[in-house]
Amino acid sequence: MPVPTFVAFAAPPAQSSEAGEAIFTQKCSGCHTVGQGDKVGPDLDGVTRRRNAEWLTRWLLVQDEMLAEEDPFWLFLQDSS
Ligand code: HEC
Repeated sequence: MPVPTFVAFAAPPAQSSEAGEAIFTQKCSGCHTVGQGDKVGPDLDGVTRRRNAEWLTRWLLVQDEMLAEEDPFWLFLQDSS
């Protein structure tokens, strides 16, 4: 499944790693740690070795689409919330 064109050709935004960390703390750390074990979601330490860039980009941008395609567990979680 190809990454949508607008994603493949978008220049990466110029952001510092501090900005990234703030976003992570705000949006992700409720469910994920990096290197401190699984919470609601899996520990993301080393995730770039387990998943390729295309997969990660799609996961973060079009998660709903991916879930509809391939993740019955997430569909179940959404149904039960
Ligand atoms: C409400 C809880 C929750 C939040 C908030 C959340 N995640 Fe997740 N995340 C999960 C769960 C649960 C999984 C496992 C899903 C699965 O295996 O189908 C997951 C899986 C992932 C994966 C795949 C990991 C792997 O090893 O396959 C990545 C990458 C990820 N999340 C990144 C993020 C990022 C980045 C954010 C913030 C922008 C975020 N998540 C916010 C719950 C969450």
